[in-house]
Amino acid sequence: MLENTAGKGKQILFVDDDASLLRLGRLTLERAGYGFLGALGGEEGLRLARTAHPDLILLDYMMPDLSGKEVFEGLRRSEDARLRHTPVIMLTARTSNDVEQRELLEQGLFAYLHKPFGYRELLNVIGNVLMLSQIKERNRTLELEARRAFVATVRTLISLLFAKDTCTGEHSQKVALLAEGLAVQCGLAEEEAIYIKLGALLHDVGKIGVPEYVLCKPDCLTEEETALMRRHVHHGEQALAGVPRMKDVRAMVLHHHEWWNGGGYPAGLCGEEIPFGARLIAVVDAYDAMTSDRPYRTHLPHSVAVERLRQGAGTQFDPILVGKLFEYLDAIGDAEPHDTASILDWEFLEEFCPAV
Ligand SMILES: [Fe+2]
Repeated sequence: MLENTAGKGKQILFVDDDASLLRLGRLTLERAGYGFLGALGGEEGLRLARTAHPDLILLDYMMPDLSGKEVFEGLRRSEDARLRHTPVIMLTARTSNDVEQRELLEQGLFAYLHKPFGYRELLNVIGNVLMLSQIKERNRTLELEARRAFVATVRTLISLLFAKDTCTGEHSQKVALLAEGLAVQCGLAEEEAIYIKLGALLHDVGKIGVPEYVLCKPDCLTEEETALMRRHVHHGEQALAGVPRMKDVRAMVLHHHEWWNGGGYPAGLCGEEIPFGARLIAVVDAYDAMTSDRPYRTHLPHSVAVERLRQGAGTQFDPILVGKLFEYLDAIGDAEPHDTASILDWEFLEEFCPAV
């Protein structure tokens, strides 16, 4: 290992099995105001990267112990986020394997520098990569803030719903768990299932805007009260208007009371005009509502709820989704996700933002 000559500038780790190149590199980098760390092999380079946390790594591609590619992949697999994001420039004489070079760029390699290179060229590439790295770091910080703001927004909305009406708050969480299970049963990709889970969690959030004397009324609603209650789909859709990446979720919230035969509200959509997520939520919403206690009645037995869903298939509900719900409920058996012991994991919300 060459001497650590950390200066006042950025710290550069130079990994190359050519000792004369390292000496020249050290001279050039220190003259330019950079701190210098040198390693004469891949394993030593990886160890130094882990302990010294350099700001940038120059990595020789061809080394006798660990290749530059293996060192780079080791860095990318690190549990230390700072190490994963350390910019790497690969030094290589190989120019023929374009496919492999492209793969490494896709994995986050910042740049290639082909040997032999002039030291002005080296300093230019280092300067550009450090600037690009700063921009990426700033973007990661912004993404992290956006993720936190998103999670906080959704949790705040659900907290408000709980504060307004505990029953609806609990119902929303159970519907979210059921909706996710049914979405997976339908063969949806994980990302789509998570969107539906979020739509289900928020499907009744607009009830925050419904007067409590209507929301908690134990008797039948009057015509006027029914109209007020039905406004909840609009309140919910509007509450999410300013939240990013919510287009599909807003459609689920707005249309979860549409009927398969066009007899629902607010738009009277029918069949596949109704967004898929809204049709799915409608089925699990009804099942959970029937099998849960309410202030004005105790829950219905599972068999009665199933029979009512069967009767509503093709009129109120998408018949295929009713069948899929039955398959799902049969499959989970006793491990029903809608019992009171089920706890919604809020971490799923974080999956809406790209990994940082
Ligand atoms: Fe609703």
